[in-house]
Amino acid sequence: MTAPLPDKNEIRIAVIGLGYVGLPLAAAFGRKYPTLGFDIDATRVAELRRHHDQTLEMTEAELQAADQLSCTDDAAALAGCNVFIVTVPTPIDGYKRPDLRPLESASRTVGKAIRRGGVAIFESTVYPGATEEVCVPIIERESGLSFNTDFSAGYSPERINPGDKEHRLETILKVTSGSTPEAADFIDALYASIIHAGTHKASSIRVAEAAKVIENTQRDVNIALINELSLIFHRLGIDTHEVLEAAGTKWNFLPFRPGLVGGHCIGVDPYYLTHKAQEIGYHPEVILAGRRINDSMGAHVAQRVVKLMQQRGLRTAGAKVLLLGLAFKENCPDLRNTRVTDIIDELATYNVEVDVHDPWVAPAQARHEYDIDPVAQPAAGQYDAIVLAVAHREFVALGADGVRAFGKPGAVLFDVKRALPRASVDGCL
Ligand SMILES: NC(=O)c1ccc[n+]([C@@H]2O[C@H](COP(=O)([O-])OP(=O)(O)OC[C@H]3O[C@@H](n4cnc5c(N)ncnc54)[C@H](O)[C@@H]3O)[C@@H](O)[C@H]2O)c1
Repeated sequence: MTAPLPDKNEIRIAVIGLGYVGLPLAAAFGRKYPTLGFDIDATRVAELRRHHDQTLEMTEAELQAADQLSCTDDAAALAGCNVFIVTVPTPIDGYKRPDLRPLESASRTVGKAIRRGGVAIFESTVYPGATEEVCVPIIERESGLSFNTDFSAGYSPERINPGDKEHRLETILKVTSGSTPEAADFIDALYASIIHAGTHKASSIRVAEAAKVIENTQRDVNIALINELSLIFHRLGIDTHEVLEAAGTKWNFLPFRPGLVGGHCIGVDPYYLTHKAQEIGYHPEVILAGRRINDSMGAHVAQRVVKLMQQRGLRTAGAKVLLLGLAFKENCPDLRNTRVTDIIDELATYNVEVDVHDPWVAPAQARHEYDIDPVAQPAAGQYDAIVLAVAHREFVALGADGVRAFGKPGAVLFDVKRALPRASVDGCL
């Protein structure tokens, strides 16, 4: 006998983890279904109750429009829910191994609250097999219920892109899956009721898990190839962007650009896949090579800047360098796994003094996460070199002259993102 499923009119949703992924999801469901958002971070919950989202993904009006959404940090309040959607972080540890602790903890929370007929859906990015091998056994243990007899599970990966106002939850096609054909249909219909772009029902939970992790792995490897090409072309004295522009005129040439690969997705998710591959005795070659190249780009940028300074006869020890941008990508405050810190760390080995300026990031967060105190407004004419590390719209709007105004006469300007005209800068990737 397969597990019963909630009646359509009695759906009560819980979203566990109200971050970049969980909050927009909870708000979308909260416009249609009674929805409870749960997070262990009491400060975040208090802010959300005031309709303030510090990730800037949701506006006050959008949160107010979710009139059936309430938020709590009290796990006991989850007892009345029958659909549990887990959107907690899945980071890596210092050895680049999956750190499943938040996922395991959230599974315990679900296990304590779920009743017969309940559905547990996971959205966090994982390796193929994690939902059924790691999360489901925890739910069984905590609840005393049996998988697929008493409760069902599913996996529906998220594809949102922080700071992207065009590709939003409702406008991105969503992959769904379930532990039984009935659960898969239920989960697919549930998401289809809020996702305008439609859904794709995968044949199993493992297929859906694998699909998500390869989306980001493919991107990572593609960027690594372009980064490697930029290292080669730099040595050959050829402008990488001009090459990419020319090659891009072919119909099937993919438009990737060189750069730092930060954030908690593209630079992290491939390690979930390589971990699983190694567990089953396969040593991934291409994926890990790509990771190594992408992780080396920050140090490469710093070395190029130092070389440019030396070529101009500028002393590096004690020199002042301004880094424009700390967030992991443009026009968003997200600092997680930013690789701009690799530029800072490498510059520090040359005894260069680095100031960081980023109008998007919360200074307290920069201090807390990276021990960096960003400067609120860099003074004009102070710096020996300027590195445009993140193409926030404010920096692009300054133009090359505006950016150069922070530098002393003859200062080096390096444009990591190729956001300024090539002829106006001294170096770029
Ligand atoms: N941000 C993205 O663009 C994105 C896109 C696709 C997939 N993902 C994946 O989605 C998942 C969530 O990412 P995110 O960006 O929303 O993370 P996040 O760090 O923004 O948010 C996670 C939230 O979960 C809370 N939390 C942590 N442990 C908890 C627990 N045990 N119980 C309840 N709440 C808990 C945290 O306090 C935080 O508010 C990750 O697996 C990530 O890889 C993220």
